[in-house]
Amino acid sequence: MKLWTHCSVATMAAGTAQPYGLIEDAALVVDGALLRWVGARADLPAELDAACTQRNDARGALITPGLIDCHTHLIYGGDRAHEFEARLGGATYEDIARQGGGIASTVRSTRAASADELKVQSRVRLKQLLGEGVTTLEIKSGYGLTLEHERKMLQVARDLGRENKLDVRTTFLGAHALPAEFADRSDDYVDEVLTMLPLLHSEGLVDAVDAFCERIAFSPAQVARVFEAARSLGLPVKLHAEQLSDSGGAQLAARFEALSCDHLEWLSEEGAAAMAAAQTVAVLLPGAFYFLRETKVPPIAMLRRHGVAIAIASDCNPGSSPCTSLLLMLNMACTLFRLTPEEALAGATRHAAQALGLNDRGVLAAGKRADFVLWDVQRAAQLAYALGANPCIQTIFKGETR
Ligand code: NIG
Ligand code: FE
Repeated sequence: MKLWTHCSVATMAAGTAQPYGLIEDAALVVDGALLRWVGARADLPAELDAACTQRNDARGALITPGLIDCHTHLIYGGDRAHEFEARLGGATYEDIARQGGGIASTVRSTRAASADELKVQSRVRLKQLLGEGVTTLEIKSGYGLTLEHERKMLQVARDLGRENKLDVRTTFLGAHALPAEFADRSDDYVDEVLTMLPLLHSEGLVDAVDAFCERIAFSPAQVARVFEAARSLGLPVKLHAEQLSDSGGAQLAARFEALSCDHLEWLSEEGAAAMAAAQTVAVLLPGAFYFLRETKVPPIAMLRRHGVAIAIASDCNPGSSPCTSLLLMLNMACTLFRLTPEEALAGATRHAAQALGLNDRGVLAAGKRADFVLWDVQRAAQLAYALGANPCIQTIFKGETR
């Protein structure tokens, strides 16, 4: 067993008297890939102390759960800097999408890239997330939009998980955009998505299913067909919902007991109530809000009032959030959305785990996974406070130094 001392631990456990579930002068015992004991150093049972063969002095570090980025489009070809310029010149995200740019442009470059090329480009982004203590990462497909290219993206995602000390959770996002070859035949493309899903699932490539419910993407009725198919395979669903307009996506997702609804700037009261009843997590994406220069803030007070768990993610993607810093997202969640630093950190730990349907991580407690990060900060709020700093000293993944 391994012991860490000379640290404070922000356990992020729910419902503790201390903010952040903080334990000062803590000890943490790891047995294999799991936490065996977490508490005040003074309370560490002598026999456990004696059984620790590896003893680590954390030199005053703050320890938090490994960070969880629960919404990314990490794998893609090319970039969209030209669209950034066009938007600064007055074009809107929706204008660009309607003119064949936007997601469709990334689909072209992703299809043109080999799996190896995608891997090389994605590794650069992954390295930055890993450097900030991310131990679990969700990666969506959705820039292939054919069986061959969606498979390629998902295989690259699995490969990145295998080649790093990192858990990758894959999400099939076949219903992300209408590919050019299906112009004006969106129902036919949904049929195509329904043929891709079981095949990719049978190849072990799909952990969850997502869709983009929006006037520039798919209607609630089309999303419902995709979700029915997911349900018949026993796969959990998530939804890009109410980002640019309120299409009732949240209520639809809640009917399918979605793990999460993501974006939610235009979420209605009915949507929030439905999410609360279904225990669907609200994943907020301040990077996309910032980068698209949105002005409508997600209804934070309403989410709190309904008791909806809030997660924060990078939404790393080339069009709306070319961002590889989850710490920066914590800051933006506070400055732009007025979350507290504690809510923001819960959003990238406990609630992010919930948004992925994982109950073995996201908090530091006996029996949970030994995924944690040592930070060179005195108090937890500093993680959300600094802009562009990275105080990560060390990351432990499944009990091992990364
Ligand atoms: O989360 N909303 C849809 N999907 C992405 C954007 C993808 C893109 O523009 O390439 C998002 O914002
Ligand atoms: Fe997204």
